[in-house]
Amino acid sequence: MLCARSGWRALRRCASLPRAVRLRVREALGAREPAEAVRVQGWVRSVRSQKEVLFLHINDGSSLESLQVVADPSLEKRDLTFGSAVEVQGKLVKSPHKMQNMELQAETIHVVGPCDIWSFPLKMRERHPLEYVRQFPHLRCRNNTLGALLRIRSEATASIHSFFQDNGYVHIHTPIITSNDCEGAGELFQIETSREEEDSVEKSHFFNVPAFLTVSGQLHLEVMAGAFTHVFTFGPTFRAENSQSRRHLAEFYMVEAELSFTESLQDIMQVMEDLFKTVTSTVLSKCPRDVELFHKYIAPAQKGRLEQMLKHKFMIISYSEAVEILKQAPQTFTFKPEWGCDLQTEHEKYLVKHCGDVPVFVVNYPYDLKPFYMRDNEDGPQHTVAAVDLLVPGVGELCGGSLREERLPFLESRLQRLGLTDAYQWYLDLRKFGSVPHGGFGMGFERYLQYILGVDNIKDVIPFPRFSHSCLL
Ligand code: 4AD
Ligand code: MG
Repeated sequence: MLCARSGWRALRRCASLPRAVRLRVREALGAREPAEAVRVQGWVRSVRSQKEVLFLHINDGSSLESLQVVADPSLEKRDLTFGSAVEVQGKLVKSPHKMQNMELQAETIHVVGPCDIWSFPLKMRERHPLEYVRQFPHLRCRNNTLGALLRIRSEATASIHSFFQDNGYVHIHTPIITSNDCEGAGELFQIETSREEEDSVEKSHFFNVPAFLTVSGQLHLEVMAGAFTHVFTFGPTFRAENSQSRRHLAEFYMVEAELSFTESLQDIMQVMEDLFKTVTSTVLSKCPRDVELFHKYIAPAQKGRLEQMLKHKFMIISYSEAVEILKQAPQTFTFKPEWGCDLQTEHEKYLVKHCGDVPVFVVNYPYDLKPFYMRDNEDGPQHTVAAVDLLVPGVGELCGGSLREERLPFLESRLQRLGLTDAYQWYLDLRKFGSVPHGGFGMGFERYLQYILGVDNIKDVIPFPRFSHSCLL
């Protein structure tokens, strides 16, 4: 009741002042000129009360830096604590401190939402480790590291869209609910209604056929590439695979592109490399302070590695070469490298190191290892498909792509052998009505963030630890 009353008093005081211009913290910090009547809203990051002056730092998520507020100690209240939400009105003036441009001289401070500092898990001026804040998925965005991560994630998302739009790609919203298992790996979440009683009376599917959460938008993109030539999608993707690892999630975001009239893997690799370098350069230039936080406290050598990576062309080796390199490695692997076996994370990491800790494209994988849609290289005796994976230091596989099998007889016989002809009639149709050579790729967005920021655990680059965590937020 006391709090409410003091809140009303502050509101009345605000109302009697001239209408102040509302500024975000970022705008206030970047202002060129002082301003007479300014309003800033945010959460208190620090409170320091001295005899003559009260200092606050306020953050509203618009930048890593907080805005310093200087006030008369008479404005201090009991509920003006670390973590509380406030609205401060006053004058924006040049700061005498070298480290910041502007500060706010407060005339009123209104505590909009108090914070119980004793039970609030974040503490003032403490650098909490990622493992610690992971325990509080609903509060960790108030921490500097997660704040920086989410601004970077937002900038990278915008940059991915710009990259494709600037290069003439059409953005397609591919379905989340689908009946296909694009990758053929059976790692699907099936969708059913929660109406159990009805289901038991008549066990039928809601959509009449089994439906799943998508594992990839690729097949739907291929449909659209048959009309627009260059298309992309960027959306949530779901896989029911081992999500206990540091690079797997049950729900993740995938960027996918599909290009028609393309006959070589080289074209696909060029788009992957351009996308990667353009987005990374944009993030580095638009979020320098946020990225610096990761490169200073989480992965100290990462900055230099990224700068090197941006200057050089990515390497290309074949799968067969990769297996030879692994066989000659001076170390023993848990999974013995053999031609025809999938590359494991330990192999991918070794290959990247062997090539000088730079991103490496591995091309032409065994036919039997890869999904039905990949283009047959018609080689032998070691039969391969035109597939490409991009491996990066610390993470392993970042992108997977291929040329698609555009030749009807090849696709028909492969689907027949897999017993999938009926399910994929529509996909076969695409090869009957103006089929063209085409290909594409998918990049895991969280793994991309993991790599550029040097984050070890993939769960630390998502806004909410989803169902891959024991906490169901
Ligand atoms: O290699 P994948 O399985 O390729 C496809 O799905 C193709 N249909 C894409 C295409 O050609 N349009 O997945 C692509 C990328 C992987 O390289 C990896 O970065 C990421 O998606 N990925 C995951 N990221 C986090 N958690 C998981 N469980 C992931 N599974 C794949
Ligand atoms: Mg893959």
